[in-house]
Amino acid sequence: MAIENIIELENIVKTYKIKEGFRKFKPFNAIDGVSLNIEKGEIFGLLGTNGAGKTTLIKIMAGLLEADKGSGKVLGYDIYENHKKIRSNVSLVAPTADVGTDNNLTVKQNLEFWAVVYNLPKEKREERIDYLLTFLGLKEYENFWPMSISAGMRQKLAIARSLLVQNPILFLDEPTVKLDAKGAESIRKFIKKINVEFNTTIILTTHYIFEAEELCSRVAIMNKGKIRSCDTINNLRNNLEKYDSFTIKCETLKAKTIERLKLEENIIECNFKNNELKIITDKLEKTIDLTTRALRKENIQIESINTTEYSLEDIFIKVTTEEEKI
Ligand SMILES: Nc1ncnc2c1ncn2[C@@H]1O[C@H](COP(=O)(O)OP(=O)(O)OP(=O)(O)O)[C@@H](O)[C@H]1O
Ligand SMILES: [Mg+2]
Repeated sequence: MAIENIIELENIVKTYKIKEGFRKFKPFNAIDGVSLNIEKGEIFGLLGTNGAGKTTLIKIMAGLLEADKGSGKVLGYDIYENHKKIRSNVSLVAPTADVGTDNNLTVKQNLEFWAVVYNLPKEKREERIDYLLTFLGLKEYENFWPMSISAGMRQKLAIARSLLVQNPILFLDEPTVKLDAKGAESIRKFIKKINVEFNTTIILTTHYIFEAEELCSRVAIMNKGKIRSCDTINNLRNNLEKYDSFTIKCETLKAKTIERLKLEENIIECNFKNNELKIITDKLEKTIDLTTRALRKENIQIESINTTEYSLEDIFIKVTTEEEKI
């Protein structure tokens, strides 16, 4: 079966003006040459540190923000010519979506209100709302006030709103932010269910790597407005097989020492957290030797040394820091 791209972006640039002084602005590329294809039916993850450009890219794909350069199509509509068409055929749940919930209306009344706003035909409203309430496990709370249900349920309500009209693309910007582990888990289950049941293409952003790993067929790792890597998680891992990592447990470490280690030719990434120095290298033995000698020279007592497996978090760190190292 031929792969059908539901989103195609080519060399997209989005430039903001940022304040530099009194009445002085300088251009800043929040999106800096992004090319990306997203296939129909995918759950696609956008990962990246704060300010990487994830939300800006989502807004461009959802027709809410116009790119300054590049070309693109969403659902076959041109992102410049047909952004209105795009807007009316996609749904977006922003991290602040909960703000749109009216606390003076019950859970069900909120959906009834938004069904009118979204122009859902009157004869279809009742059935669709009932279906969504059941689908989301909100049915027994339909007469509750939003303030009396959990944060996870409120997020489900916000997502339910976006599903009143069944659009082929759903953008979820940090869908599990502010939720505890249980609430987040239930939202993730629900995201999979929407994807399967409605065949909705879902594009989500997250700061949680395990979340992307659990949900996404492919991920793009963004940094400073660019996509540094875009692949399946398995392929990302395989590409990094040539690297090893190890940790050294020690009490303290000077910032200067870490900076010096980072400059070593065979050290790809190095950071110190919770009394653990973690190093990614392309020459394991040589680097362990070099590092232990450097620590001993500074009279740092080494508690233990362990080689470790690569996690997706390592890939993330490597991809997002590679550029800075060059
Ligand atoms: N309206 C704006 N005007 C000027 N700069 C902006 C504007 N919106 C975003 N930016 C800047 O563009 C960059 C990308 O922002 P964006 O919100 O897309 O990042 P993000 O990856 O979603 O970050 P986060 O993980 O914190 O949500 C940031 O440096 C941000 O400060
Ligand atoms: Mg964001």
